Amino acid sequence: MTMAFWLTHPDRDHTGGIFDLLDAAPLARLVTTYLGVGIMSTERPLPLDRVFLLNPGQSLDVGDRTLIGFRPPLFDNPATVGAFDSRTGVCFSSDCFGAPLATAELASADDVGEVPGNDLRAGQLLWATVDSPWIHMVDADRFLASLQPLREMAPSAILSTHLPPAIGRTEQLLDTISGAPMADPFVGPDQAALEQMLATFEPVATR
Ligand SMILES: [Fe+2]
Ligand SMILES: [Fe+2]
Repeated sequence: MTMAFWLTHPDRDHTGGIFDLLDAAPLARLVTTYLGVGIMSTERPLPLDRVFLLNPGQSLDVGDRTLIGFRPPLFDNPATVGAFDSRTGVCFSSDCFGAPLATAELASADDVGEVPGNDLRAGQLLWATVDSPWIHMVDADRFLASLQPLREMAPSAILSTHLPPAIGRTEQLLDTISGAPMADPFVGPDQAALEQMLATFEPVATR
């Protein structure tokens, strides 16, 4: 296979262009899991002759490189499979390592180094607790052990869907998320908080 789209997981923020991409590249296959196919079918079924089912630990030869599937240590969807590019050492980590950032400029920066270190760490821990709330039920030592395969892959760069490129920062990122089990659980605003927010908004002039 020489052309493939890799669906890290079938959450809506990752699937919007899939059918257009499959139309635009009729020879390309869509790498996903059996579960990914099932979840996608709730919206619109994938053409089964275009998919390539790949589980964590399996790999795919795409001609000039091998893509190795792995389960990122944090994930929000059971179909999640990250990809490690054997040729460049680049790792696509799906949602893992994401962070809400203060401005659109920071979110679209060329390098995560543009984000102040403390803000990055706090943002990644917040993201971890929002996106993977199960982290608080996990044995901290077992979670730490789950970081080891990624550490051994030693990616040259980590491309998270929700973070600027992180080049040469694997240890830093792993160190940050190692604190996720002990971070404060996220609780979203409730109705009272929403009403308080709405009360502070300026009334809209009507004619
Ligand atoms: Fe997601
Ligand atoms: Fe996402």
